[in-house]
Amino acid sequence: MTPRKIIIDTDPGQDDAFAILFALGSPKELEVVGITTVGGNVPLRLTAINALKVVELAGRPDVPVFAGCPAPMVKPLMTAEYVHGETGLDGADLPEPVTPLQTEHGVNWMVRTIMEAEVGEITVCTLGPMTNLAMAMTMEPRIIPRIREVVLMGGGFFEGGNATPAAEFNIFVDPHAAHKVFASGVPVTMAGIDCTYTAQMTPEWLGELRATGSRAAIEAANLADFFRIYGSHKFPTEARPIHDACVTGYLLAPEIFEQRQCHVTVEISSPVTIGMTVVDWWHVTGQEKNCNVLRRIDPDPFFALMLERISALP
Ligand code: BDR
Ligand code: CA
Repeated sequence: MTPRKIIIDTDPGQDDAFAILFALGSPKELEVVGITTVGGNVPLRLTAINALKVVELAGRPDVPVFAGCPAPMVKPLMTAEYVHGETGLDGADLPEPVTPLQTEHGVNWMVRTIMEAEVGEITVCTLGPMTNLAMAMTMEPRIIPRIREVVLMGGGFFEGGNATPAAEFNIFVDPHAAHKVFASGVPVTMAGIDCTYTAQMTPEWLGELRATGSRAAIEAANLADFFRIYGSHKFPTEARPIHDACVTGYLLAPEIFEQRQCHVTVEISSPVTIGMTVVDWWHVTGQEKNCNVLRRIDPDPFFALMLERISALP
């Protein structure tokens, strides 16, 4: 089997780090051709450095990291230090990276890579605000029919939002970018909070991960311990979702997800509900289905696979 080529577009973020480690620990199935970073959980200068820290933690400094857009297409940037800490990767004490950031702009690289690849060869995984991908589609619309699939963490429907009552953080930060991607005609798979809330990592699982003894596993568990602090107002136990890792989980094991084709659009005009992903779950509009909406994960195989793959890293 040839590994599936993916670009990871990200704003690390502890859960982004899990998604990246999970992917880099799965080289038989996934080839991470590069990582682009975006302003999101913390500003771009930190997300770019954080992505380098994560590839070095994985023992994969050969995976190129590019800085993309520092701010959304229209709105000012909103960050989430209240969730991720001042660095974005609070919880682990990762060394300053020695690997340099690539000098090419992340959006230019994304366009070039998709144009140079075969049609349908590249999958784009977005783990943060979708600014880079939407900018790439704006700069070079010919990339749209060349992309195999966009798999994104973002949005919500029955669960509402986590940044506002209506909007999930990644979509809320750059709703115009998300709107562009959903409306582009590219095949989209969406792991929203309805899906990510159904796979919650427990202190016991983190204990097992740490006990595997690899440095990547131990630092991942440290990151998760910080990430688990936030959310006590919402979740009744110490278990927490690990949102972005669901994207990697889907790429590796789509059969453990409940999914449904729906029409999805993003609200961009109402000040109250801007950033809401309006999912036509019951197909009441009759509009063409443009998104594979992930609804639920079977948590046991998901966490078993993630433990196996992250602990395989050095
Ligand atoms: C999403 O927002 C960020 O805080 C996380 O990294 C994740 O991508 C969850 O709403
Ligand atoms: Ca993220």
